[in-house]
Amino acid sequence: METAEIARRFLGFFEKNGHTVVPSASLIAEDPTLLLVPAGMVPFKPYFLGQRTPEYSTATSVQKCIRTIDIEEVGKTSRHATFFQMLGNFSFGDYFKERAIPLAWELLTTPVADGGFGIDPEKLWVTVYLDDDEAAAIWRDKVGVRPERIQRMGMADNYWSMGVPGPCGPCSEIFYDRGPAYGAEGGPEADDNRYIEIWNLVFMQYERGEGSGKGDFPILGELPKKNIDTGMGLERLATVLQGVDNIYETDIMGRILHRAAELTGTRYGVDHGHDVMLRVVADHVRSAVMLVSDGVKPGNEKAGYVLRRILRRSVRNLRLLSGDSDTLFLHELTDVSIDAMKDIYPDLVDKAGVVHGVIDAEERNFADTLRAGTALFGKAAERTRAAGGTVFSGSDAFQLHDTYGFPIDLTLEMAAEQGLAVDEGAFRELMQRQRETAKADAKAKKLGNADVSLYARMLEGTGATSFLGYTDTEGEARVRGIVVDGASAPVARAGDTVEVVLDRTPFYAESGGQLADTGTLTADGRGVVDVEDVQKPLPGLFVHRGTVRSGEVVLDDTVHASIDTGRRQAIERSHSATHLIHSALRNALGPSAGQAGSENRPGHLRFDFTADEQLGAGRLAEVEEEVNHVLAGDIQVRTEEKSLDEALSMGALAMFGEKYGDRVRVVEMSDYSVELCGGTHVGSTGRLGIVKLLGESSVGSGVRRVEAAVGVDAFRRLSKESALVGQLSEQLKTPREELPERVETMVARLKAAEKEIERLRAEQVLQAAGPLADGARRHGSALVVAAPAPDSAAPDDLRRLVTDVRGRLGEGGPVVVALTSVPKGRPVVVIAVNKAAQKAGIKAGELVGIAARALGGGGGGKPDIAQGGGSDPGKVDEALRAVEARVAAS
Ligand code: ALA
Repeated sequence: METAEIARRFLGFFEKNGHTVVPSASLIAEDPTLLLVPAGMVPFKPYFLGQRTPEYSTATSVQKCIRTIDIEEVGKTSRHATFFQMLGNFSFGDYFKERAIPLAWELLTTPVADGGFGIDPEKLWVTVYLDDDEAAAIWRDKVGVRPERIQRMGMADNYWSMGVPGPCGPCSEIFYDRGPAYGAEGGPEADDNRYIEIWNLVFMQYERGEGSGKGDFPILGELPKKNIDTGMGLERLATVLQGVDNIYETDIMGRILHRAAELTGTRYGVDHGHDVMLRVVADHVRSAVMLVSDGVKPGNEKAGYVLRRILRRSVRNLRLLSGDSDTLFLHELTDVSIDAMKDIYPDLVDKAGVVHGVIDAEERNFADTLRAGTALFGKAAERTRAAGGTVFSGSDAFQLHDTYGFPIDLTLEMAAEQGLAVDEGAFRELMQRQRETAKADAKAKKLGNADVSLYARMLEGTGATSFLGYTDTEGEARVRGIVVDGASAPVARAGDTVEVVLDRTPFYAESGGQLADTGTLTADGRGVVDVEDVQKPLPGLFVHRGTVRSGEVVLDDTVHASIDTGRRQAIERSHSATHLIHSALRNALGPSAGQAGSENRPGHLRFDFTADEQLGAGRLAEVEEEVNHVLAGDIQVRTEEKSLDEALSMGALAMFGEKYGDRVRVVEMSDYSVELCGGTHVGSTGRLGIVKLLGESSVGSGVRRVEAAVGVDAFRRLSKESALVGQLSEQLKTPREELPERVETMVARLKAAEKEIERLRAEQVLQAAGPLADGARRHGSALVVAAPAPDSAAPDDLRRLVTDVRGRLGEGGPVVVALTSVPKGRPVVVIAVNKAAQKAGIKAGELVGIAARALGGGGGGKPDIAQGGGSDPGKVDEALRAVEARVAAS
């Protein structure tokens, strides 16, 4: 049975049994405790906790999921995937175990012809939590499972939570017996490879607190209702129903796997090592496609890092498989993945352009990374060996990782090829230090130091903040929460850094790229808080961050909240300008120029968009002109609430990867720009004054950035540049229009003059060659020049000079030329020997070693010419004598 059919049957079965079919949520989790969605129940978590009331009491879904905790296991086992789909049915206080268990059994065992999955009941085993007699009894008495097929297990296996505080409960799992070829008899207790888990039924009835591992956390209490959360891995069920050995061989991933084998010239099923790599590629490419289609961009943190890691592992495995470091394979494999998945996710077809753009760019980037990093690696390895070491330093490995994005396993592998070990301990320590700093920075920056659960409790207690700021710039509000030093407090006093939650507010909280308002909260006769930033740590909860300027602010006070209107207006100008630029870019580049992020601050904006190619100065100027032309038309800016469907049908631009509710705000500037947007805007575009684009850059991976100055800031910039040009014109005594030509001529003349100086200097140095050659001394059959050259001679000059002197002394017998100089106060030595000398066993590298040691440094090079240096200019003579003595003795 095809994967798409399995998904259809699952949803159909539960729909027939009264469940509402809910489409998969985005992989990007709304839940602040998560990065990416790891389970089907995530979108329903607020329903389990009783924080929100669902419109339905039972639901079913096929949820896209990502889990990377076992990424190293992918391909090695039969069932680990980074992206997978979880089939689930859910009850929010409706039915419980007594119905969930028989429903699951019915679907699994009903014959295929009657709409089920047709699994032979004799192949199924179940587990229940240690003391869950109730579930065991249902399995035995209601379903008819033989008692010896019901096993009891502890917290680690039969108790489920999200790994963080939240809903949890005992669970019961259903296993499929793959037969004696896969392991020992005896049920899931005995062998979890032979008996694979296919479905987990969680009886969600408790709330857990902070803790670690799968069992070490306190149970805080019962949830408001008893719920059901189930999860069945679609890929695993497909493995069973398609009778294949592992998930990578099922219909969807199998296609990617076989194409990867074809492209890399390998065959699946011949070599175990290759098989593992092909499976990794099949899994990872598919995951990358799904992540990108949900709006994730490769980056160095959070979800972006997950994606980058997955893509880089794919590239690395493809290179190892093909032995080819030039071919780019991902484009083709992305196509196959999209084609294989489009039955279940038709939106992939529309997004294909963007998905390709992002993945292709990252692959190219990584190819460049590998090239640059490999050069750095080579140097560091040589340095290690030259110093007689066998261990590649942790700091070099860290630099490779940090600057070039080299995964440590790549460094390990390359080092091993050169017979070097890597100081992994030091590497990990540096990584850890960097992570801690980054974490501390990020936390301190946005959310004070408060834990998200604190905000969750506030939201639960006080409800969402109502936002007045679309119409008002000030208003009365009640203080509903105060946070000082990361903890809830009844009062904050003068000088305190504080976070204040109000029941209503005119302050816009940073979102959708629009920066927060600043302003004041004034409690009459009591105190004033300067608001410096406003964030929404949870949807609907506005947290005003700032400092108590005077007096105090007390819980339940009524305050007068007032925003800095000048700043707000300047931000609004930037935000409206962003919409115009977005439209102009789409007109210039086509609809693939999707918004990928933005920042609107007073007088300045930044807009990131997806594009494969550079816009270039010409098109940039056209975009700028179009925007200014349109804004001068003074178009009314209209905002309206609409249903999402209505908005999309009128062609409103939605931000790629963004999640929207059922009701959305649409911001219209005639039909030139229509966007879904929660931000605030000017009343009409004439208010923007002017928009000046400040240039274009790449922010990696198929994403480009334009920045612009808006309004008076744009004017100031233009005026400053104009003054600058005036000044240059005066200084160069050239009319403004002729400046570029004049500068070009000046630069060319300067370059020619520099070249001439360089030539004269080299000539001067080489003039020393004759006298130096004349001063050669004989040691046995060898001719030796060991003398100081002019101190100003740079290492390159010295190299030229030694070669010249060596040439003058011919090949009549062994010749050794050792010259020193002291440019910039540090001694340098370069030694050249001729062929006859090398034949006689005299090596330049070895002689330089002797000289450099005398100078208090090191060096190296080839047998015929080598260079070294040191720190003690007083030892030049000694170094030269040591070289001479060494030659004399050979
Ligand atoms: N939430 C449960 C799981 O992920 C069903 O296994």
